[in-house]
Amino acid sequence: MNLTSNVRPADMERITTEALANAFIDEQVSALRAQIGDGKVLLALSGGVDSSVVAALLIKAVGKQLTCIHVNHGLMRKGESQQVIDVFCGELGANLIYIDATDRFLDKLAGVSDPETKRKIIGGEFIRVFDEEAAKLTGIKFLGQGTIYPDILESDGVKAHHNVGGLPEDVQFELVEPVKLLFKDEVRVVGKALGLPDEMVYRQPFPGPGLGVRCVGAITRDRLEAVRESDAILREEFAKAGLAGKVWQYFTVVPDFTSTGITDGKRTDAWPVIVRAVNTKDAMTATVEHLDWELMDRITDRITHEVKGVNRVLYDCTPKPTATIEWE
Ligand code: XMP
Repeated sequence: MNLTSNVRPADMERITTEALANAFIDEQVSALRAQIGDGKVLLALSGGVDSSVVAALLIKAVGKQLTCIHVNHGLMRKGESQQVIDVFCGELGANLIYIDATDRFLDKLAGVSDPETKRKIIGGEFIRVFDEEAAKLTGIKFLGQGTIYPDILESDGVKAHHNVGGLPEDVQFELVEPVKLLFKDEVRVVGKALGLPDEMVYRQPFPGPGLGVRCVGAITRDRLEAVRESDAILREEFAKAGLAGKVWQYFTVVPDFTSTGITDGKRTDAWPVIVRAVNTKDAMTATVEHLDWELMDRITDRITHEVKGVNRVLYDCTPKPTATIEWE
């Protein structure tokens, strides 16, 4: 594949099988070695499927010439940063710099309730943290990026539209974008062939600002924890029910209001958790998954008993439009 072209050749076969993925991997490894030579590459590794596949390809091609930076903004899902460390440091032997910037992000976000301001703070802070770490490294010539074909096709698409973050524009790196002519399903097949865990390869879409847009209004640490814990329970119960990978996106939201409840004979004043589960092709419109009531009962029971500060569970029955998928 021509690494400099932004146009997918009309006769390029869809990568649907392991054999095709292996052929793509071999071709890319040679192309990456030719492009990079003995240069050094930097990559922001979020743990999402695109950047993970790019990291795994680069490790295969140039090994320790790649440095990955994983910024934990404190808005990751439960266990996600640890998985990035386990897979990339533990299994793949990557050069990985892990930055726990939780306090920095949450301090900046304290008291901020406007959704777009929250997004801008998260995006801006991400660039600053990444920039600071990059400045400590010497001799970096290349920047790896998980651009995929829909990002090129729809420069006004969801990712471009929402990604107020992205990476520094003023850095003079040469871009390395080995999956830029692939569609998402092909990236997943390649990821699987590279040996990445299913949880990473079939990961549902997760917004750049993470749980920050699901902790509605001004983020507080206790309510953020309620989002993270309820999300973990939801994912676990969906997996047990065989729905993981079948429902396009599912998550929990915790709004910034409380309601009255009763626990152990005492009145409580606690948050509701809103469960959202949707299906879509392109995220521009979406329908609601019709959840089984028994499953909903189990989820409600676990969330109300296991998540601190919560006394109610609600299901969001609204398609897009009129609602958006996320709450902010
Ligand atoms: P909405 O809420 O606009 O979401 O219907 C459509 C899809 O985009 C994801 N999303 C984001 N992705 N940064 C991202 O990278 C963001 O700020 C952002 N906001 C929404 C959302 O999860 C859904 O898949």
